Amino acid sequence: MPAPIRIAPSLLAADFARLGAEVAAIEAAGADWLHLDIMDGHFVPNISFGPGLVKALRRQSGMFFDVHLMIAPADPYLAAFAEAGADLISLHPEAGPHLHRSLQTIRALGKQAGVVLNPATPVEAVAPVIDLCDLVLVMSVNPGFGGQSFIRSQLAKIAALRAMIDASGRAIALEVDGGVTAATAPDCLAAGADVLVAGTAVFGAPDYAAAIAGLRGGGSSA
Ligand code: DX5
Ligand code: ZN
Repeated sequence: MPAPIRIAPSLLAADFARLGAEVAAIEAAGADWLHLDIMDGHFVPNISFGPGLVKALRRQSGMFFDVHLMIAPADPYLAAFAEAGADLISLHPEAGPHLHRSLQTIRALGKQAGVVLNPATPVEAVAPVIDLCDLVLVMSVNPGFGGQSFIRSQLAKIAALRAMIDASGRAIALEVDGGVTAATAPDCLAAGADVLVAGTAVFGAPDYAAAIAGLRGGGSSA
């Protein structure tokens, strides 16, 4: 049975002066998850925010917090993000020497664990640890900034991962991040994705509910 489509607006594109209100607004508009992009200015060429902000938002929101770590090393900070209120923590294989151990650490902290594949990172990078994954995230832009153009070559990777996940027999979410709009979302869903991250396409829109419904295919937010 296919998983329901989940829309995960990325806080990176929100108004940073009004973050609490922005989270409340997307929750009211029908968003399923909140995607939190953590950038260190080292692993990626941009700096965003850290566990303190995650913790502050956790106090006001019951949404599922999908924390995407773009930091290296990541291991020293896993506990901090778990304690801050992450529900799922994902990281890139390139962020450290022991991906299997990092995923074990996240699960031991009681959180869901995910692996993120950059555009140049092959599906084989996640295959040996798929049994420890609750989510696989395909980057459809090079990580670091919102508002970039969707890299269409990643659709084949999504399809390959859909086959790998189905063969595993486990309920593993397949998420896409970067350049997802109402125009590119149908291709992501057709390739087998079931979680769509969208920054600009939601927070840059005048009507968040309409934008979220548009990503689902224009249907209702149910
Ligand atoms: C990029 C981040 C994305 C980004 C997506 O490094 O991981 O989550 O915020 O932004 P849009 O949807 O604008 O491409
Ligand atoms: Zn992200």
